[in-house]
Amino acid sequence: MYLVFLGAPGAGKGTQATKVCEKYNIPHISTGDILRANIKAGTALGAEAKGYIDKGLLVPDEVVIGLVKQRLAEADCQKGFLLDGFPRTIEQAKALNDFAKITCAINLAVDEKLVVDRIAGRRMCKCGESYHVSWYGKDVCAKCGEKLYQRDDDKEDTVKARLEVYNAQTAPLIEYYSNMGILKDVDGTQEMNKVFDDIVRILNDNH
Ligand code: AP5
Ligand code: MG
Repeated sequence: MYLVFLGAPGAGKGTQATKVCEKYNIPHISTGDILRANIKAGTALGAEAKGYIDKGLLVPDEVVIGLVKQRLAEADCQKGFLLDGFPRTIEQAKALNDFAKITCAINLAVDEKLVVDRIAGRRMCKCGESYHVSWYGKDVCAKCGEKLYQRDDDKEDTVKARLEVYNAQTAPLIEYYSNMGILKDVDGTQEMNKVFDDIVRILNDNH
């Protein structure tokens, strides 16, 4: 399966992608995670990306497209992959069609108030796990014991900018993939396990 996950910031893309990739044994490719890893490692790419991410803006198409093209050429992606947070513009989606054949685009549909609450309460671990203060009371990761932290771009003003960017530049991808005949909508407002069950049902029916 060659999958794309669409959805607003905080829709649950990362949460569901982790579970789906574990179940189907495919690589989870999150452009946000790759860019943040570059910032942490102090690479030139990270330095360029940070200026955009901190403002809630998109990193330029040519940078992200190059990154994904290179990643998808690796051996572990040949039998399937899940793209989380890419494509994010029509330009990126068109470029992706030139180097990959996507079989399903899952759109996690949520409303704006919900995602603001989800992002405000999100706590991350450097191992990749993500929690929410409403259901996880500890400040260390249940998997690896590391201290949890809040993402730099999860501040209120930046979240507002991210949502505006999503509505203007990324939401049109819903129609784009619908026109390609591979869009599947999932109600992302449901409890996490229900969202996962819906995704699994769609993937089992379509692959
Ligand atoms: P990115 O890292 O992709 O962030 P995002 O799209 O803003 O999405 P998030 O990671 O914030 O949310 P999510 O949908 O993964 O939600 P999560 O599962 O964590 O991008 C960051 C930045 O990088 C961009 O702003 C841009 O600058 C740059 N970038 C990345 N890709 C790019 C691209 N292709 N082009 C250009 N620039 C790019 O869940 C959120 C919270 O809710 C968690 O606390 C979770 O525990 C909780 N939660 C999840 N599901 C549920 C549920 N069903 N019920 C209750 N709580 C839930
Ligand atoms: Mg994410």
